[in-house]
Amino acid sequence: MELSEAIEKRRTVRVFKKGATEEQLQRIILAGSKAPSAGNRQSWEFIVIDDPKIIEQLGEIKYQLNRKFSPGPGETQKDVEERALNQKKWFKNSSVVAVCTRSGDIGTGWLAVENMSLAAVAEGLGSNIISYWDESKKEVEKLLGLPADYELICVLKFGVPEGEVAPPKRRPDFSWLHKNKF
Ligand SMILES: Cc1cc2nc3c(=O)[nH]c(=O)nc-3n(C[C@H](O)[C@H](O)[C@H](O)COP(=O)(O)O)c2cc1C
Repeated sequence: MELSEAIEKRRTVRVFKKGATEEQLQRIILAGSKAPSAGNRQSWEFIVIDDPKIIEQLGEIKYQLNRKFSPGPGETQKDVEERALNQKKWFKNSSVVAVCTRSGDIGTGWLAVENMSLAAVAEGLGSNIISYWDESKKEVEKLLGLPADYELICVLKFGVPEGEVAPPKRRPDFSWLHKNKF
Protein backbone atom coordinates (compact mmCIF):
# COMPACT_ATOMS: atom_id res chain seq x y z
CA MET A 1 0.00 0.00 0.00
CA GLU A 2 1.22 3.50 -0.86
CA LEU A 3 1.94 5.68 2.16
CA SER A 4 -0.39 8.38 0.84
CA GLU A 5 -3.20 5.83 0.66
CA ALA A 6 -2.57 4.69 4.24
CA ILE A 7 -2.58 8.31 5.45
CA GLU A 8 -5.83 8.99 3.60
CA LYS A 9 -7.51 5.77 4.78
CA ARG A 10 -6.47 5.97 8.43
CA ARG A 11 -9.27 6.79 10.76
CA THR A 12 -10.16 6.01 14.31
CA VAL A 13 -12.00 2.72 14.61
CA ARG A 14 -13.52 2.08 18.01
CA VAL A 15 -15.56 -1.11 17.55
CA PHE A 16 -13.92 -4.35 16.48
CA LYS A 17 -15.07 -7.80 15.51
CA LYS A 18 -11.71 -9.39 16.26
CA GLY A 19 -8.21 -8.43 17.26
CA ALA A 20 -4.97 -8.44 15.27
CA THR A 21 -3.01 -11.64 14.75
CA GLU A 22 0.26 -12.00 16.65
CA GLU A 23 2.19 -11.46 13.40
CA GLN A 24 0.22 -8.32 12.56
CA LEU A 25 0.78 -6.96 16.05
CA GLN A 26 4.51 -7.63 15.78
CA ARG A 27 4.73 -5.78 12.47
CA ILE A 28 2.73 -2.87 13.89
CA ILE A 29 4.97 -2.59 16.94
CA LEU A 30 8.08 -2.92 14.79
CA ALA A 31 6.79 0.03 12.72
CA GLY A 32 6.44 1.97 15.98
CA SER A 33 10.07 1.29 16.80
CA LYS A 34 11.17 2.82 13.45
CA ALA A 35 9.83 6.27 14.33
CA PRO A 36 12.12 9.27 14.83
CA SER A 37 13.11 9.76 18.46
CA ALA A 38 14.56 12.62 20.50
CA GLY A 39 18.34 12.28 20.62
CA ASN A 40 17.83 8.90 18.94
CA ARG A 41 17.15 7.61 22.46
CA GLN A 42 14.42 5.28 21.17
CA SER A 43 13.10 5.34 24.67
CA TRP A 44 9.83 3.64 23.79
CA GLU A 45 8.59 0.47 25.42
CA PHE A 46 5.52 -1.37 24.13
CA ILE A 47 3.39 -3.48 26.45
CA VAL A 48 1.12 -6.03 24.78
CA ILE A 49 -1.82 -6.57 27.09
CA ASP A 50 -3.84 -9.75 26.71
CA ASP A 51 -4.79 -10.34 30.35
CA PRO A 52 -8.58 -9.84 30.45
CA LYS A 53 -8.38 -8.58 34.05
CA ILE A 54 -5.93 -5.83 33.10
CA ILE A 55 -8.00 -4.91 30.02
CA GLU A 56 -11.10 -4.74 32.21
CA GLN A 57 -9.27 -2.34 34.56
CA LEU A 58 -8.02 -0.19 31.66
CA GLY A 59 -11.63 0.10 30.53
CA GLU A 60 -12.91 0.88 34.00
CA ILE A 61 -10.30 3.62 34.58
CA LYS A 62 -11.18 5.16 31.19
CA TYR A 63 -14.90 4.98 31.99
CA GLN A 64 -14.42 6.70 35.34
CA LEU A 65 -12.29 9.38 33.66
CA ASN A 66 -14.64 10.16 30.77
CA ARG A 67 -17.83 10.18 32.82
CA LYS A 68 -16.44 13.29 34.57
CA PHE A 69 -16.82 15.32 31.34
CA SER A 70 -19.49 18.01 31.33
CA PRO A 71 -22.21 17.58 28.72
CA GLY A 72 -21.53 19.46 25.47
CA PRO A 73 -24.09 21.73 23.79
CA GLY A 74 -27.39 19.86 23.37
CA GLU A 75 -26.15 16.91 25.43
CA THR A 76 -27.41 15.45 28.66
CA GLN A 77 -25.50 13.81 31.49
CA LYS A 78 -26.93 10.53 30.20
CA ASP A 79 -25.17 11.05 26.85
CA VAL A 80 -21.88 11.63 28.65
CA GLU A 81 -22.42 8.48 30.71
CA GLU A 82 -23.22 6.42 27.61
CA ARG A 83 -20.15 7.67 25.74
CA ALA A 84 -17.93 6.95 28.73
CA LEU A 85 -19.37 3.46 29.05
CA ASN A 86 -18.69 2.82 25.36
CA GLN A 87 -15.03 3.66 25.92
CA LYS A 88 -14.96 0.73 28.32
CA LYS A 89 -17.17 -1.63 26.28
CA TRP A 90 -15.23 -1.10 23.08
CA PHE A 91 -12.06 -2.72 24.41
CA LYS A 92 -13.92 -5.90 23.44
CA ASN A 93 -12.36 -7.92 20.57
CA SER A 94 -9.35 -5.64 20.31
CA SER A 95 -5.63 -6.19 20.64
CA VAL A 96 -4.29 -3.82 23.25
CA VAL A 97 -0.83 -2.23 23.34
CA ALA A 98 0.35 0.44 25.78
CA VAL A 99 3.02 2.81 24.50
CA CYS A 100 5.40 4.20 27.12
CA THR A 101 8.58 6.25 26.98
CA ARG A 102 11.13 7.55 29.40
CA SER A 103 9.53 10.47 31.24
CA GLY A 104 9.47 13.58 29.07
CA ASP A 105 10.02 11.85 25.72
CA ILE A 106 6.41 12.47 24.80
CA GLY A 107 7.03 13.53 21.19
CA THR A 108 8.96 10.34 20.60
CA GLY A 109 6.08 8.28 21.96
CA TRP A 110 3.47 9.99 19.79
CA LEU A 111 5.54 9.54 16.64
CA ALA A 112 5.70 5.81 17.40
CA VAL A 113 1.91 5.85 17.87
CA GLU A 114 1.37 7.41 14.43
CA ASN A 115 3.69 4.89 12.77
CA MET A 116 1.68 2.12 14.44
CA SER A 117 -1.64 3.62 13.35
CA LEU A 118 -0.48 3.77 9.72
CA ALA A 119 1.02 0.28 9.86
CA ALA A 120 -2.37 -0.97 11.09
CA VAL A 121 -4.03 0.46 7.97
CA ALA A 122 -1.54 -1.43 5.81
CA GLU A 123 -2.55 -4.60 7.70
CA GLY A 124 -6.23 -3.93 6.94
CA LEU A 125 -6.87 -3.10 10.59
CA GLY A 126 -8.31 -0.18 12.48
CA SER A 127 -6.82 1.50 15.53
CA ASN A 128 -7.99 3.63 18.43
CA ILE A 129 -5.94 5.83 20.74
CA ILE A 130 -7.15 5.66 24.34
CA SER A 131 -5.72 8.51 26.39
CA TYR A 132 -5.44 8.92 30.14
CA TRP A 133 -4.39 11.97 32.11
CA ASP A 134 -3.95 13.24 35.67
CA GLU A 135 -4.72 10.61 38.31
CA SER A 136 -6.03 8.12 35.74
CA LYS A 137 -2.68 8.18 33.93
CA LYS A 138 -0.92 7.43 37.21
CA GLU A 139 -3.38 4.61 37.90
CA VAL A 140 -2.64 3.00 34.53
CA GLU A 141 1.11 3.45 35.01
CA LYS A 142 0.80 1.63 38.32
CA LEU A 143 -1.43 -1.07 36.85
CA LEU A 144 1.10 -1.74 34.10
CA GLY A 145 4.07 -1.64 36.46
CA LEU A 146 5.93 1.22 34.79
CA PRO A 147 9.24 2.15 36.42
CA ALA A 148 9.25 5.60 38.08
CA ASP A 149 11.26 7.16 35.23
CA TYR A 150 8.80 6.06 32.54
CA GLU A 151 5.46 7.49 31.53
CA LEU A 152 2.42 6.30 29.66
CA ILE A 153 1.85 7.88 26.25
CA CYS A 154 -1.43 6.13 25.50
CA VAL A 155 -3.10 2.78 25.14
CA LEU A 156 -3.78 1.62 21.58
CA LYS A 157 -6.48 -0.78 20.44
CA PHE A 158 -6.16 -2.63 17.13
CA GLY A 159 -8.50 -4.93 15.31
CA VAL A 160 -10.72 -5.78 12.40
CA PRO A 161 -13.34 -3.02 12.14
CA GLU A 162 -16.94 -3.96 12.90
CA GLY A 163 -18.68 -2.31 9.97
CA GLU A 164 -17.86 0.85 8.07
CA VAL A 165 -16.64 3.93 9.89
CA ALA A 166 -17.81 7.25 8.47
CA PRO A 167 -14.93 9.63 7.79
CA PRO A 168 -14.54 12.28 10.49
CA LYS A 169 -15.36 15.90 9.73
CA ARG A 170 -12.18 17.62 8.67
CA ARG A 171 -11.30 21.28 8.36
CA PRO A 172 -11.20 22.36 4.72
CA ASP A 173 -7.82 21.65 3.13
CA PHE A 174 -5.37 24.52 3.60
CA SER A 175 -7.71 26.45 5.91
CA TRP A 176 -4.95 25.89 8.48
CA LEU A 177 -2.11 27.21 6.29
CA HIS A 178 -0.23 30.43 7.07
CA LYS A 179 2.70 32.22 5.48
CA ASN A 180 5.59 33.66 7.46
CA LYS A 181 3.41 34.47 10.49
CA PHE A 182 0.34 32.92 12.05
C1 LIG B 1 -4.01 12.78 21.66
C2 LIG B 1 -5.24 11.98 21.26
C3 LIG B 1 -6.03 11.42 22.25
C4 LIG B 1 -7.16 10.66 21.90
N1 LIG B 1 -7.87 10.04 22.88
C5 LIG B 1 -8.92 9.26 22.54
C6 LIG B 1 -9.63 8.54 23.53
O1 LIG B 1 -9.31 8.56 24.72
N2 LIG B 1 -10.68 7.79 23.13
C7 LIG B 1 -11.07 7.70 21.83
O2 LIG B 1 -12.04 6.99 21.53
N3 LIG B 1 -10.41 8.37 20.86
C8 LIG B 1 -9.35 9.13 21.18
N4 LIG B 1 -8.64 9.79 20.20
C9 LIG B 1 -9.07 9.67 18.79
C10 LIG B 1 -9.73 10.96 18.27
O3 LIG B 1 -11.02 11.07 18.84
C11 LIG B 1 -9.75 10.93 16.74
O4 LIG B 1 -8.43 10.92 16.27
C12 LIG B 1 -10.50 12.12 16.17
O5 LIG B 1 -11.87 12.06 16.46
C13 LIG B 1 -10.33 12.24 14.65
O6 LIG B 1 -10.73 11.06 14.00
P1 LIG B 1 -9.74 10.22 13.08
O7 LIG B 1 -8.67 9.63 13.97
O8 LIG B 1 -10.60 9.17 12.47
O9 LIG B 1 -9.13 11.15 12.08
C14 LIG B 1 -7.51 10.52 20.53
C15 LIG B 1 -6.69 11.10 19.54
C16 LIG B 1 -5.58 11.82 19.90
C17 LIG B 1 -4.71 12.39 18.81
